[in-house]
Amino acid sequence: MLTDIECAKQKIRLIIAGSQVPEDPCHADNTLEWLLRLEPDADEALQLAALAHDIDRAIERIKVRRADFDNYDTFKAAHARNSAEILRSILTACGVKRNIVKEACRLVELHEVGGDPSSDLLKDADSISYFDVNLPLYFQREGWDETKRRSHWGYRRLTLRAQDIVKHIDHGDKELTRLLREVIHESVMLRLSPRHIFFDDLNSEL
Ligand SMILES: [Fe+2]
Repeated sequence: MLTDIECAKQKIRLIIAGSQVPEDPCHADNTLEWLLRLEPDADEALQLAALAHDIDRAIERIKVRRADFDNYDTFKAAHARNSAEILRSILTACGVKRNIVKEACRLVELHEVGGDPSSDLLKDADSISYFDVNLPLYFQREGWDETKRRSHWGYRRLTLRAQDIVKHIDHGDKELTRLLREVIHESVMLRLSPRHIFFDDLNSEL
């Protein structure tokens, strides 16, 4: 018989397997893998949050849509809240302990922005995974400009430790290597230069 946590993981994977975004199932498990590489002792709440953080994208009828938001960060915050609520009903249905439910949902809600050691870990694992497994498919579907915008956004939210990991990711593809190099170089320039010069450029991209 399945434990409450196994029941939850199985349900989460089943829902994400139905996502219309092809990279979603791989990204969910890969985020969990990166989480465990960054923190081998990550607890159950963190592991559940890693697996389910983007679950709203897998449910067409209730997912949050980019087109409904003027601002990318507002869209991402709504996506995180919606994913947390979906996770809450799955965990409750599986009989997961209330303190784990509360913490896992809190982490999912914070996964785009972090703010404490646990949510920062999740944010890093999520963002490293974007560069590790999402990037090729995202590029194929969205093209150079949108992938570069998304990569800038993802790279800037990484901690220095995670940025160092991303610097060594190599997809063996000339265009992706060039895109990643440009993103990393421009992010360094942004950190080193007077804010107004590069923020003007980036804000027009965002
Ligand atoms: Fe994600």
